[in-house]
Amino acid sequence: MKFVWESRLDTGVLEIDEQHQQIVALIGLMADLQKKPLDFGELQKLFDSLNVYAHDHFACERIMVFQAGLSETSLWFNHQGAHEYYMKRIADFRDDIDRRDERALVQIGAFLKYWWVQHICHEDMLLVEVLKEKKLHDEAVAASLIPDERVRDQS
Ligand SMILES: [Fe+2]
Ligand SMILES: [Fe+2]
Repeated sequence: MKFVWESRLDTGVLEIDEQHQQIVALIGLMADLQKKPLDFGELQKLFDSLNVYAHDHFACERIMVFQAGLSETSLWFNHQGAHEYYMKRIADFRDDIDRRDERALVQIGAFLKYWWVQHICHEDMLLVEVLKEKKLHDEAVAASLIPDERVRDQS
């Protein structure tokens, strides 16, 4: 399962893109490992790194949403649901790895690649678009307040 960064995964938000790139790189390393005689210890280490990294990345997106004041929107409820679904699937896969189930590895690889591409290209792109719109809106509101302040200060 080859998995490398592609420009279609770029959201345009540097912090998010760098984290996604790191996640893609870790999944790529897991795939490379499967080409050699399998080292389950190394696989577990990479899988755990990926999970910690994904968890932190989801937290980062959550902070951005909360800071934008969008935490009570259906957009965020759905998005958070997708993150929770991912973490549940990953917990099951961790059990497969602990059981050293080699057959499950193909499934795990396919799931990781499919889920991240779908999530980044659809849900994260939408999230970033809404965050950008909200930022522009907030800036416009802030800018429109400046003349009012000036008038008030002069009176
Ligand atoms: Fe993301
Ligand atoms: Fe996300």
